Parts: sequence; C-alpha cells; structure tokens
Amino acid sequence: MSKITAQRSSTERPKKERQSAPPGPEAAAASSTLSIRPVRRGDLNAVIEMDAMVTGIEKRDYWNSLYRRYADAVATGQHFLVATLSDEVIGFVIGEVRDWEFGSPPCGWVFAIDVRPDARLGGTATALLQAICQGFRKAGVSKVRTLLSRDNTLILSFFRSQGMMIGPFIPLEMDLEL
Ligand SMILES: CC(C)(COP(=O)(O)OP(=O)(O)OC[C@H]1O[C@@H](n2cnc3c(N)ncnc32)[C@H](O)[C@@H]1OP(=O)(O)O)[C@@H](O)C(=O)NCCC(=O)NCCS
Repeated sequence: MSKITAQRSSTERPKKERQSAPPGPEAAAASSTLSIRPVRRGDLNAVIEMDAMVTGIEKRDYWNSLYRRYADAVATGQHFLVATLSDEVIGFVIGEVRDWEFGSPPCGWVFAIDVRPDARLGGTATALLQAICQGFRKAGVSKVRTLLSRDNTLILSFFRSQGMMIGPFIPLEMDLEL
C-alpha cells in the first residue's frame, strides 16, 4: 500500500491531529492499523451488514450492483473505499466525479459514508473522506459536494466538522401518480 500525503485547498479548515490513517486511497496509519483501501468482493458482506445496521434495511442486490459499477472504476472517477482495522471492515465511503451535473463544472460527489457504531468517534470517517477527496483531486476536481437528509443531524455534524458548508443548489421533488 502506498502512503499519500494530505493536501488541503486554501478554503479547507485545518483539523486537529488525530490518531487515524493519513489520507489516500491506499493509506495505512503509521501508529495504528487503520487503513483505507479500495473495496474488494470479500468486503461486501461487512458493508451490507453495516448498512443494514444503520438503515434497518438489508439491500443485497443494490450493494452487489454498486460493487460491479464502482470496484476498479477509479479511472472513471468512481470510488468505493473501505476502512479496515486489524483486517476488519469498519467503514466505507462511496462517491464519484460527475461532469456538468446540474450544470456545474466537474466536481466530486460523496453519496454514502458509514462507520460501524462500535468504531465511531475515532477519526475513521475523517480518514475515509480525506481519502476520497484525495482521489477527487487526482481526477482534477477542486470541489466536493454531498446531499443529506435534513433530519440526519449526525451526518450533518460530521460534514460540518470537515468544513463543508451549504451549497448553491436546492433539492426539489414531487409525487408521481402511478
Ligand atoms: C457520521 C459518521 C460517518 C461519523 O463517523 P466517525 O468515524 O465517528 O467520525 P469521526 O470520528 O471522523 O468524527 C469527525 C467529527 O465529526 C463530528 N461527529 C462525529 N460523530 C458525532 C456525533 N455523534 N455528534 C456530534 N458530532 C459528531 C465531530 O465533530 C467529530 O470530530 P471530533 O471527534 O473531533 O469532535 C458515523 O457516525 C456514521 O456512520 N453515522 C451514520 C451515517 C449515516 O446516517 N449514513 C447514511 C447516510 S450517508
């Protein structure tokens, strides 16, 4: 696994030091065994279990199709990374670079980030977000976005802690009659 040094844009807020992995798709911490790497087929059960724990719904077909689309797709700007501690999967992040989506120049989107409840508050999600942002930078984009449920104050607190702010878009929706 290669070590990648953290890079921050001038708009990013400096974070306090943590005992977690340095950023990068395949970074391993020098002082702990937390590491971030691209997902492998053998990680899927742990990811499915973790998602079911957080959302209350097991979506095996969904995760299998996501794996087929994202694993090994880094060249197209798609990232599905897992965090492991002592070889056990304790978190994951998924995102991709989208070109001119909603009329905006190419930027990175984070679609999902989860850490196992018993492994939280140790800097794992921070390391995952930094790693995927490093992948986005490598793809040449300098902006990262996400969308979250307004009731989910936990994920909002996390993203705010990383320096993310309200963006220029508003989500709209309507019911479709079937
Ligand atoms: C949000 C989540 C990813 C954070 O993971 P984590 O590994 O615990 O996060 P970190 O340890 O890197 O925390 C970084 C910062 O986030 C904020 N944060 C994390 N958990 C928090 C909590 N329970 N309350 C308030 N702030 C919190 C803090 O500012 C924290 O920094 P600090 O520890 O220095 O105060 C994790 O709680 C999770 O998986 N929650 C469920 C996610 C979810 O709902 N996913 C579905 C939609 S994508």
